[in-house]
Amino acid sequence: MTMTSIRDSLPATADELFPTQTATHAAATYDRDRRAREHAIVASHLRRVYRKGGRLLPYRAASETVAVADVSFAVPRGTIFGLLGPNGAGKTTTIKMLSTLLVPSGGTATIAGWDVTRDERQVRRQLGVVLGGDRGFYAKLSAWDNLVLFGNLYGMTAPSIRRRTAEMLALVGLDDRRTERVEGYSRGMKQRLHLARALLHDPPILVLDEPSIGLDPAAAVDLRRVVAALVPAHTVLLTTHDMAEADLLCDDIAIVDGGRIVAQGTPARLKERVGVTRRVVVATAQSLLRAGTDRDAGDLRRCLASVIGVREVTADAGPDGGTAWTLDCDETAAALDGALSLLRARNIAVRGVRVLEPTLEDAFLAITGRGFESCTISDI
Ligand SMILES: Nc1ncnc2c1ncn2[C@@H]1O[C@H](COP(=O)(O)OP(=O)(O)OP(=O)(O)O)[C@@H](O)[C@H]1O
Ligand SMILES: [Mg+2]
Repeated sequence: MTMTSIRDSLPATADELFPTQTATHAAATYDRDRRAREHAIVASHLRRVYRKGGRLLPYRAASETVAVADVSFAVPRGTIFGLLGPNGAGKTTTIKMLSTLLVPSGGTATIAGWDVTRDERQVRRQLGVVLGGDRGFYAKLSAWDNLVLFGNLYGMTAPSIRRRTAEMLALVGLDDRRTERVEGYSRGMKQRLHLARALLHDPPILVLDEPSIGLDPAAAVDLRRVVAALVPAHTVLLTTHDMAEADLLCDDIAIVDGGRIVAQGTPARLKERVGVTRRVVVATAQSLLRAGTDRDAGDLRRCLASVIGVREVTADAGPDGGTAWTLDCDETAAALDGALSLLRARNIAVRGVRVLEPTLEDAFLAITGRGFESCTISDI
């Protein structure tokens, strides 16, 4: 998926996208219209505070949770945008505000140019939303009847409801279970049905909160294929805790923590920010470390170290009596290419190769600084 041409033509800086109060009214209106044309989703300084107790429940002390403190991002049309972040970061709350299910406590957002608080009805028409979970269906009805019901709610015609219901159930692999009551569905099957419902009226924009949660590996692969095929005709905003999924699908990612965006960029850009060493490990068949061949090993180590981009070489005993050469490098592709050419020229057989690059998971942990070990008790 390469959406670089679309992205490159768009304003890039936060100042351009989210003008502050200093902009004149006319300029602000122009900017808003332009953003709405070019971007399917625009969130501008969104904020949401949950209040508990107080006036409604006077026996409980009033308390406030700032779920979303200040979140701004824009999703270009025809792209996939990922919201990642630890549990409780504010992803679902953001998605609910964009889907008109929660009223923002501050800030604004538009969907295809429609304001989420002023133009609720039009916003809903543009959206297919997957929030997942057990709710959202009539448990006593079959999957087919549920989708027909939603088709009617969406104002679709009877023939298109029948056609789309059959197509969507086939797409999510529930065709053979369509007559069964939803109450008998497994969690993964319900999740697939949520996706079928969201896609039923073919909305231009899809908002998917952890769409692959509960899916078996094969179903998760199918889901990723479905989501990837939605662009560029559709725009997708998704959250996921699956870093490989985000890396594979998303053109752009915002990492949210504590209700704020702490990093944003393409998966490649985010990975570049991680200071993990890039490594290539090449296993050769002969042991060059055995007595009598030390000179050869030293010679080969020096040659490998002179390959372009390689910074350091270490040799260890490899599998089946061979040698494992570890090359710390700036760029793994060039280092691998150079090392393999060198070994081939010396007639040294290669048994295996491993390339170690920083992953999106490394980037996530480095940026948020959180694994389980850094959680406080109150987090858990
Ligand atoms: N209905 C609610 N009432 C009070 N607080 C809430 C409510 N819903 C969410 N919160 C709080 O708001 C914060 C953000 O929650 P949210 O569900 O948006 O996080 P999330 O990023 O989706 O997390 P996860 O990855 O676990 O799904 C959390 O501290 C959560 O406890
Ligand atoms: Mg959530």
